[in-house]
Amino acid sequence: MARRVLGYSPVGGLPELRRAVRHAADRDPGLECAQVAVGCGAKQVIFNAFLATLLPGNEVIVPAPYRASWSAMIRMCGGLPVVVDCPAESGFRLTPEALREATTGRTRWVVLNAPGNPSGATFSHDELAAVAEVLRRHPTVTVLSDEIYAHIRYDDREYAGLAQVAPDLRERILLVDGVSKTYAMTGWRVGWGLGPPGLVRAITAVQTQNCTQTAAVSQLAAVAALEGPQGILAERRAVYHRRRDAALAILRRSPHLDTMALDGAFYLFPRHATGDDLAVADALPEAGCATVPGSAFGAPGHLRLSFATDITTLEAGCRTVVDVLDGLGVLDEVAS
Ligand SMILES: Cc1ncc(COP(=O)(O)O)c(C=O)c1O
Repeated sequence: MARRVLGYSPVGGLPELRRAVRHAADRDPGLECAQVAVGCGAKQVIFNAFLATLLPGNEVIVPAPYRASWSAMIRMCGGLPVVVDCPAESGFRLTPEALREATTGRTRWVVLNAPGNPSGATFSHDELAAVAEVLRRHPTVTVLSDEIYAHIRYDDREYAGLAQVAPDLRERILLVDGVSKTYAMTGWRVGWGLGPPGLVRAITAVQTQNCTQTAAVSQLAAVAALEGPQGILAERRAVYHRRRDAALAILRRSPHLDTMALDGAFYLFPRHATGDDLAVADALPEAGCATVPGSAFGAPGHLRLSFATDITTLEAGCRTVVDVLDGLGVLDEVAS
């Protein structure tokens, strides 16, 4: 054991971690044939996948709001992000119509992220099935299904990712997950992709030439998380749920914000009445509160607030947001 932790270990991940990931995935019908590539966080797996597959001019469909680093990664790997607007009116979800319109002969990947960062949006079984129906018509498109928040959900629906809803597409799905969000182990840097053997081999080939392998000690910590008692997940879900509702109750007092309750992750993504998210996000740090403007996620007009903090800090932060917006609202009225 000591030798394996101190020395180099297999590029694709320690066998015990790959086994633990596979074992967790065995509960997900549709992924029976998938292989596992371990990386330094989900982020590295995604980067490796794009680097391994994108050719100049290849397009990647990125539903907005999106995680900012996706477009940067796609460009670095020679691809072209094609941003598809998924506004609040569509629940921040990619609709089959929008996907159909955006897909061309140059599309190489479609990114799906549910529950989503920054929106918290999730798909119902039927919504995913409708997306899958469009994907069936484009057999050269691979899907990056980022399900890193799959265990942080507040609805009572049984969870279903794309591979379960459309097992016939399994040869074209890379499911990405890790320990960062589910087990709050962001700093350990362990993530993985589950996908068809050819794609997993290509991802592992890229991994060989950049950082060789994720630190073995981190991988063993990930095994402990995956194989330890899982009751903690329901406990944490309940805590996040309470925090989300407490934050919502305060933010909804503001006439300047329209805040939807979404079903997953630990973010709220309200829309500000003036639509000037940059000005609002700039005004908040002076009052001791930080938010990320929606423009950073391709959704101007919104603010992203995280509730991954204790409830006292969270409630104080939300009250600050409401108070600062009231102050800005008064200034707007004086100016007009
Ligand atoms: C949707 C999404 N995917 C991936 C990541 C990156 O995860 P990791 O820490 O495993 O690299 C994040 C982190 O914020 C995220 O929000």
